[in-house]
Amino acid sequence: WPAQAELIVEINRLKRERNAVILAHNYMTPDIFHGVGDYVGDSLGLAKEAAKSDAKVIVQAGVHFMAETSKILSSDKTVLIPDLRAGCSLAASITGADLRLIKARYPGLPVVTYVNTTADVKAETDICCTSANAVQVVEWAAKEWGVDRVILIPDEFLARNVAAQTSVGIIAWKGRCEVHERFTVDDIAEMRAAYPDAEILAHPECPEEVLAASDFAGSTAAMSDYVTQRKPKQVVMITECSMASNVAADSPDTRFIGPCNLCPHMKRITLENIRDCLLNMQFEVTVPEALIEPARRAVQRMVDLPP
Ligand code: 13P
Ligand code: SF4
Repeated sequence: WPAQAELIVEINRLKRERNAVILAHNYMTPDIFHGVGDYVGDSLGLAKEAAKSDAKVIVQAGVHFMAETSKILSSDKTVLIPDLRAGCSLAASITGADLRLIKARYPGLPVVTYVNTTADVKAETDICCTSANAVQVVEWAAKEWGVDRVILIPDEFLARNVAAQTSVGIIAWKGRCEVHERFTVDDIAEMRAAYPDAEILAHPECPEEVLAASDFAGSTAAMSDYVTQRKPKQVVMITECSMASNVAADSPDTRFIGPCNLCPHMKRITLENIRDCLLNMQFEVTVPEALIEPARRAVQRMVDLPP
């Protein structure tokens, strides 16, 4: 802990020297989340902060697609990620060329793309969404285009979970989050049997039967708000492990119970490599000039939707 405290002090000093802000996702470990994050939140919240930040440097304490999204929204800023290997199984599941083939097969249908995608996929997209606003975005796109079906890629489970909440038809892809696809209904049944009073919250990237067996489904920010506002006595968060640790620090009256899964990509980000990132101004995330404008249009459309 003394070493961590020193690192936190050093990082906060470097931030001031570099005119930098740290955007930290809810899956960062508590030392990062509570110690050095200037803005913390879900993908939607971090994208909105990137769009309005006036710092010169953005350090993305999260995964690569999040850093690309920041660069797309703030192309005049230097965007750094502490470890370039922090990827995402959803972002890796589809390319811009794949999406062009889907569009050729379904001409005239709008493309709604989860932000967990690379910039070349976003550049082929009409509007982005996150797990916090996917239903709203799908319904907006269907109305705007005057159609009864939309393409929603790349998360197969998010697509099915959205389909269960809207009359708009969904054309999906086969991407999966390697962290959330591993949760099963047996996990939920075990929790219900062992902790009958616990409230069970699950992320929409989980299989649909897991969500059906849970009490609430929402983005990481929505799960966090659920606990801080409703203050349940016992809660299970069916998502990445750091989520419960971060919310627990602000919720002394709630007991947090497993299970959880680690995201190996998020866990590549550490206090040490955040310090090195600011010290050496590494590793810069860039997006090809030709992709910035079409990708920005898709992300900005989402950011501009009413809350
Ligand atoms: P949120 O937008 O809910 O934070 O989700 C991002 C993510 O990567 C979940 O696995
Ligand atoms: Fe990607 Fe899943 Fe990790 Fe989120 S938790 S970054 S969706 S692999």
